[in-house]
Amino acid sequence: MSILNLNPKSLSPSLFIHKTFTNPKRSSISHQISIFKPPIYCKSNQITERGILFDTGDTFFRHESATGRDLGVLSAALYKQSKGQLRVLDAMCGCGIRSLRYLIESKADFVLANDANESHRRVILENLAQVERLQGQNKRWVITHWEANRVLTDCYLQRDYFDYIDIDSFGSDSSFFLRAAFNSLKLDGLVYVTSTDGYSSGGHRPYHSLATYGAYVRPMPYANELGLRILIGGAVREASVLGYRVTPLFSYYSYHGPVFRVLLRMNRGKLPDNRDYGFICYCNCCGNSQAVSWSELGQIRCPCSNTKDAASLVVSGPLWTGPLHSAAYIMEMLNLAEQWGWVGDGAGTDLEKLLKRMLEESDPRLPFGYIKLDEVASRAQTNTPSISTIMSTLRKEGYAASRSHIASNAIKTNCPMAVCIRIAKELHGC
Ligand SMILES: C[S@@+](CC[C@H](N)C(=O)[O-])C[C@H]1O[C@@H](n2cnc3c(N)ncnc32)[C@H](O)[C@@H]1O
Ligand SMILES: [Zn+2]
Repeated sequence: MSILNLNPKSLSPSLFIHKTFTNPKRSSISHQISIFKPPIYCKSNQITERGILFDTGDTFFRHESATGRDLGVLSAALYKQSKGQLRVLDAMCGCGIRSLRYLIESKADFVLANDANESHRRVILENLAQVERLQGQNKRWVITHWEANRVLTDCYLQRDYFDYIDIDSFGSDSSFFLRAAFNSLKLDGLVYVTSTDGYSSGGHRPYHSLATYGAYVRPMPYANELGLRILIGGAVREASVLGYRVTPLFSYYSYHGPVFRVLLRMNRGKLPDNRDYGFICYCNCCGNSQAVSWSELGQIRCPCSNTKDAASLVVSGPLWTGPLHSAAYIMEMLNLAEQWGWVGDGAGTDLEKLLKRMLEESDPRLPFGYIKLDEVASRAQTNTPSISTIMSTLRKEGYAASRSHIASNAIKTNCPMAVCIRIAKELHGC
């Protein structure tokens, strides 16, 4: 078992850990870690997910995150199918459910299940024991209790690289782990990263988002999409420092939490061109949105007549302005989910709806953001138009339009707000 070394700033205070901690960078006594080991709880909480029985004990576990786990398992399985191997590092495993599912469903050759909270050990061990630990001479799984950065950095220093790294952290902590994750990831490997920081995406603490993601975020109507875009943008920047380029394969927002999850593929390269990493501008006056490149920063204007009122324009960034998903990748996920009986046969499952909506959103003609139909109605001074009617009208007029997996009563479209308002009025006979 590993030595426990926890960073108090990145651990949830709700954990059953009480300790005094000496920051080695600030003190000459670097090994004074006094750990109060809590009593071992034997509370049993048996749960079944996709037919797999496991115990959550006293760990942090959310049933609502099952879809996020399904997406992770599907993508890890696709990786194994295409590369013939899969080594997973589950950096914050909780009760170990993801590790277990990566082993059983994605057929991972090896999983390192890590959680800083050592009191989770019994429950993780019992869950993973469902999978034979040894395969010949090789271990299929190992459990450690290091602080995530430490386990990631240790793997990097030992040149023990992983194919797939899952970082299921709280708040905006993920940005704290990304650099170490990229270092310990194989080229063409995948990082599945999480944020639960809804305040930053809402533009309610721009200096916090600046510190964590390098993006100054202002309140905008498509806040929850911004949550995904600042997470990807932060990762793009971190990877670029190391000479890597990351691109999102899918991006998933769930209102439980809220939770923002992104699967990134890493390859050699640098920051992408201006098109995908830049600024987003929203005009409170006319409701129009536009992407702004770095070179256009000094010339931001809105086509509406009131742009002289500078206060009407809000700008957020830098962040990821490119596609949230790869359509080809989502298709592969859908096909695999169908093979596994998770979608199809008219089942109409939530997973199926989600993947199909992500596919719709992947239309390359669609820009960032979405337009809430309530905003259109309020600007048009009409009732809210029906989503299917406005979408078919937009398509008839030659615009691209899709629903958004993030907001149910909103559309993604390349149609300007002014035209949406005109259409809403016409639909209501105004
Ligand atoms: C959101 S929970 C994980 C849930 C789990 N992945 C699942 O799907 O059910 C986050 C876990 O990270 C652990 N944790 C928090 N900070 C950590 C850190 N800095 N390093 C390693 N583990 C940490 C906590 O003990 C907690 O179990
Ligand atoms: Zn305007």
